[in-house]
Amino acid sequence: MAWKAIADLDQLEEGDMMLVQLGEPVCVVRLYEDEVVAVHNTCTHQQQPLNEGYLQDDDTLICPAHNSRFDLRTGEPLGIPAVAPIPVYACKIEDGAIWVDMEQQLNDAAIPHKPYH
Ligand code: FES
Repeated sequence: MAWKAIADLDQLEEGDMMLVQLGEPVCVVRLYEDEVVAVHNTCTHQQQPLNEGYLQDDDTLICPAHNSRFDLRTGEPLGIPAVAPIPVYACKIEDGAIWVDMEQQLNDAAIPHKPYH
């Protein structure tokens, strides 16, 4: 177990997301007052940063480059052009902070390779 506090809860408003570096780039999203999720920040299509994308009402995130849409709880892509899932990491709210554990990946997605640019 390697839980790490990455921010105070009040640093991330409901509906907002932040990029954190935890060995890999991770996009942390506060979906609701009491729910946060953490996913790898790299789109599996052409490696664009997902934290620059668009959060949707159905708890999916749209990549800003070519509009692939990812389920933030499962990491699964819900439409082309991306066909591979993004890693999802354990994330929780506790003691007024947001915590991520990179050692607990919640799906079996491969780590996306680094951007070429
Ligand atoms: S890089 Fe994300 S959809 Fe193309």
